[in-house]
Amino acid sequence: MLQFSSLSDIRQHTEMLRQQGKRIGFVPTMGALHEGHLTLLKAAKSQNDVAVCSVFVNPVQFNNPEDYRLYPRLLEKDAQLLDQEGCDILFAPTAEEMYRQKAKLSFDFGDLERVMEGAHRPGHFNGVATVVSKLFHLVKPHQAYFGQKDLQQFAVIQQLVLDLSFDLELVCYPIIRETDGLAMSSRNRRLNPEQRAIAPRLYESLQFLHDKLQTTPIAEAKKQTEAFLASFSEIRLEYLEVVHAQTLQPLDEVTEDVPTALCLAAYLGDVRLIDNMLL
Ligand code: PAJ
Repeated sequence: MLQFSSLSDIRQHTEMLRQQGKRIGFVPTMGALHEGHLTLLKAAKSQNDVAVCSVFVNPVQFNNPEDYRLYPRLLEKDAQLLDQEGCDILFAPTAEEMYRQKAKLSFDFGDLERVMEGAHRPGHFNGVATVVSKLFHLVKPHQAYFGQKDLQQFAVIQQLVLDLSFDLELVCYPIIRETDGLAMSSRNRRLNPEQRAIAPRLYESLQFLHDKLQTTPIAEAKKQTEAFLASFSEIRLEYLEVVHAQTLQPLDEVTEDVPTALCLAAYLGDVRLIDNMLL
């Protein structure tokens, strides 16, 4: 596996690959890799000539400085895992390299970011769109792979690609879960044993909400699910939403012809986790 940290090196290398007619599959990550990330990498590898993974804890997408400071950084271990999985190129720049000058351009995705993650994490999607745009320019992928775990992020990046005419195909893969249902996340490493034991209740609450929605209007089903979660003192729910799976706007009712997503964010201690389920 080749490893680059400088912008000019990765740019030159992917330019050469393009000239050789190679198809590039790209998986952007913030590292502390788990099976969710590796599933994306395997897909990128099997569907392209060259698989590129980036590991970069992007400061500008963190609205909470403590969350940025405590985000797990395990570059050596990540590099080993990627190498084992057959990744061809790892791009791991420093923050100084990536942002030699502070970006002045800012993104506003309108309604798409007035809800859920966008509403609760001011500036988050601006930071995501900034770094993903830079990475797309540097890596020049034919296909870029993302997880449904970050459903709203995927919607925002789809809009970014449309609005700026990026010449690439976006691919979205389902959520990979631990055996007890907890959605894999780099932040799970920060849970203490008690919090880790309770964390699967988040996914259970989505299943609970899904069941309730079969017979109960949204407002009442949400109320009952919130009460279910409130019975665990370790969990502090930030939001629970029933939304259109593409526009991400809250729905008044669940009907068969409308693609629907159940989404939540919650704190366990100071660790913030998200999860979702598509109906
Ligand atoms: P990160 O949280 O490291 O996630 C990298 C990619 O892995 C994202 O597309 C995310 O949705 C996907 N992913 C994470 N957990 C997953 C799981 N359990 N199952 C399936 N896919 C999963 O998302 C980011 O990094 C950043 O915002 C980034 C796009 C790299 C920009 O900085």
